[in-house]
Amino acid sequence: MNQKENIVVLTGAGISAESGLSTFRDSGGLWENYSVYEVATPEGWEANPELVLEFYNQRRRKVAEVEPNAAHLALAKLEDHFDVTIITQNVDNLHERAGSTHVIHVHGEITKARSSADPALITPIGSADINIGDTCELGSQLRPHIVWFGEAVQHMEESARFVEQADKVLVVGTSLSVYPAAGLVDYCQAAAEKALVALEVEQFPSGFEFYQGKATEFVPQIVQAWIE
Ligand code: APR
Repeated sequence: MNQKENIVVLTGAGISAESGLSTFRDSGGLWENYSVYEVATPEGWEANPELVLEFYNQRRRKVAEVEPNAAHLALAKLEDHFDVTIITQNVDNLHERAGSTHVIHVHGEITKARSSADPALITPIGSADINIGDTCELGSQLRPHIVWFGEAVQHMEESARFVEQADKVLVVGTSLSVYPAAGLVDYCQAAAEKALVALEVEQFPSGFEFYQGKATEFVPQIVQAWIE
């Protein structure tokens, strides 16, 4: 039984754009319409928890209304032929709903709530709102299980190990502008094949073949080529 090749896929908001979820830095993106400081920092949470809860309640409801797209589905299909690890900066659950079974969320998950007293206390909430007065079993206010700017990104050590061992690396829909997640591309020395799909990229990682265009167009093509 020959060992399956390892594939790591690093995804960002662009892979969910065609499902109808806003990206952050494209024109019309979330950071054009909201202050990052007010809704995505611990200070913003302290200053106005209602505003922060409503920002994520709106995004959580939207995630429940949309569907995975052809790019998510193609990545799920890869698992029939390779050992696939998806490392995503996205907080949506579209990879899981498309059928991917090994998904690492480095910026948290919008379908989960977290105790504001104990970050290890995490509760799945699906598409439900979190409101002021919703408390964890310790009696503290629930917050979104999202990594805010200034907070520790999750699973980075584990993610870097997977990238180091990847035979193929595919980067989809990320501007590679937020560290340390963006720095994961620097670990893929072993990969014989490296592909990047985006509409445009600020920091171009060396050694990657660039497919400039939509995820639903290029990801199925690349997946098909890798399977054949
Ligand atoms: N197909 C492919 N790529 C796309 C598409 C599409 N349909 N639409 C947009 N893109 C690309 C853009 O070209 C850009 O490179 O997706 C990327 C979106 O970049 P950002 O909006 O910066 O999203 P992301 O890289 O995921 O942001 C990283 O920033 O605010 C934080 O925590 C937040 O996880 C997020 C992190």
